[in-house]
Amino acid sequence: MSDVILEATSLVKHFGGSDSWFGKTPKVQAVDGVSLRVRRGETFAIVGESGCGKSTLARLLMRLLEPTSGAVMFEGKEVSSVSGDALKTLRRDMQFIFQDPFSSLNPRMSVGKLVGEPLEVHAPDMSAQHRRDKVAELLRKVGLRPEHAGRYPHEFSGGQRQRIGIARALASGPKLIIGDEPVSALDVSVQAQVINLMGDLSRDLGLTLVIIAHDLGVIRHMSDRVAVMYLGRIVEMGRTEEVFANPRHPYTQALLASIPSMDGSDAARRPVVLGEMPSPSNPPSGCRFHTRCPHAQGRCKEESPTLGSYEDGVACHFWETLAIDTPLPIPSPRSDATQARFALYRAATEGGTVTHKKPQPETATKQHREDHL
Ligand SMILES: Nc1ncnc2c1ncn2[C@@H]1O[C@H](COP(=O)(O)OP(=O)(O)OP(=O)(O)O)[C@@H](O)[C@H]1O
Ligand SMILES: [Mg+2]
Repeated sequence: MSDVILEATSLVKHFGGSDSWFGKTPKVQAVDGVSLRVRRGETFAIVGESGCGKSTLARLLMRLLEPTSGAVMFEGKEVSSVSGDALKTLRRDMQFIFQDPFSSLNPRMSVGKLVGEPLEVHAPDMSAQHRRDKVAELLRKVGLRPEHAGRYPHEFSGGQRQRIGIARALASGPKLIIGDEPVSALDVSVQAQVINLMGDLSRDLGLTLVIIAHDLGVIRHMSDRVAVMYLGRIVEMGRTEEVFANPRHPYTQALLASIPSMDGSDAARRPVVLGEMPSPSNPPSGCRFHTRCPHAQGRCKEESPTLGSYEDGVACHFWETLAIDTPLPIPSPRSDATQARFALYRAATEGGTVTHKKPQPETATKQHREDHL
């Protein structure tokens, strides 16, 4: 069995560009030549500014969108060419966790029905009793109680709803789960619980995870490898620890340096990404980052740098020779605040007690309590 579970080759997705009654709609180059490999069992993160194409890429990988060009291979089979039973198998093997646990669960379906539905689709011969037992087991696995099966989504907190979403994603027995900002809609005190739950599940069940997240702390905590996207392209990709410790692309450097230190002491040293991200309907020529890059030279406007690899690489003409005047403030592995958040979940799952350094806001404490009914 190959080590690579998911592979994208030169993926392109352009939206619009067609004639309509209102004239020609501008062509949006949402994803423009992405190649990557995700290894079995790893957690692969995708990071980048809003609008850089992360969700579009995730949808292409899942075949929720058809690419303009390029290919996605899942376990060696081209995703865009499967149909019939093979497509059903693909839907079973690749699951999606949505960002918003409030709108992604049908409010009219009980939790038992929501979690049991994928079983009905993928294991139609399973007896009703067996299915109920399986739903109870899945609810336990995600930290909920079997009796929650009779309740409806509105009766749960955000964190609990995301757990229901995870149980539903797990029901078909997937090999890979893609989470598009799976915790960003949650209160910070609940985020760590859900992240740790996903980490535990992926380890216990041998799952591969592809996680999109804005929060670099989340990515650092949970991913093995990371791809940094800018305007539809990957500008840097590699092992998370290495990318965080030694970011080589000027954009990655700026992105990582923008994580504020706890005491604000690094504010003066932080490199700043100048201005807004250009529009993906009219991206800059050559290196797409050149209009904001402090190191840009003539060549950058003319020639597009390539990553040169499916696994590790830096798409910058000058990354090897860039002189960085001041050392970058390397974020500590985990800030005190993040440590405290993860301690909450660990203590709760291990039955220990938690002492807060700082009192949590009322809403956060309430949600945390609700999450451990
Ligand atoms: N269906 C669509 N039709 C036209 N343009 C689209 C469509 N979907 C996405 N886009 C555009 O493609 C670009 C990338 O969007 P995408 O949602 O992939 O970004 P993102 O990185 O996920 O952003 P965010 O962090 O805000 O979720 C954006 O400019 C967006 O407006
Ligand atoms: Mg998105």
